[in-house]
Amino acid sequence: MEKEQTKKAKGKVSEKMANSKFHSLFVDNLKDIYWAEKHLVKELPKMSASATSNVLKECIDDHLEETKEHVSRLEKAFEHLGLEPEAKKCEAMAGLVKEAHELIDETQDDSMVRDCGIILAAQKVEHYEIATYGSLAAWAQKMKHNNVAKLLLSTLEEEKNVDEKLTEIADDDVNEQGAEE
Ligand SMILES: [Fe+2]
Repeated sequence: MEKEQTKKAKGKVSEKMANSKFHSLFVDNLKDIYWAEKHLVKELPKMSASATSNVLKECIDDHLEETKEHVSRLEKAFEHLGLEPEAKKCEAMAGLVKEAHELIDETQDDSMVRDCGIILAAQKVEHYEIATYGSLAAWAQKMKHNNVAKLLLSTLEEEKNVDEKLTEIADDDVNEQGAEE
């Protein structure tokens, strides 16, 4: 498998780069976030369906569309590197999503406390993604994978924006209404 990738990568990146440990770590983590994004495409609709307030539902639905774009940007990133897109199970994202389901199960339907919990769970997801894209974009720049860095930075920006939006939703009404229940 490793040899095959090295061969494929030859056309797009130098042989030295394809064999570098830093580059391998980079590709390995691209596979991790690719799995995570694809998992989120499946899971975000469930989070939206469980949310109480329309403003939170809309925010999650909008981010679902962005997340589909994140998946395709990663596919483009693999392509730039001369690799087939490959997903590797991200245990962290699987755990964060599992925690979101538990939070939903533990709170009542149509309650604002549930929305408080969903925002917490969603922000944990976003922070994981921000950490990942931040490092991967910096690594891509370091290795002069400039097209890949650009793609990763676009996604990083969107993850940061949705994180801020979630904070706004919590501050503007959800936390207060949750506290009153
Ligand atoms: Fe994303």
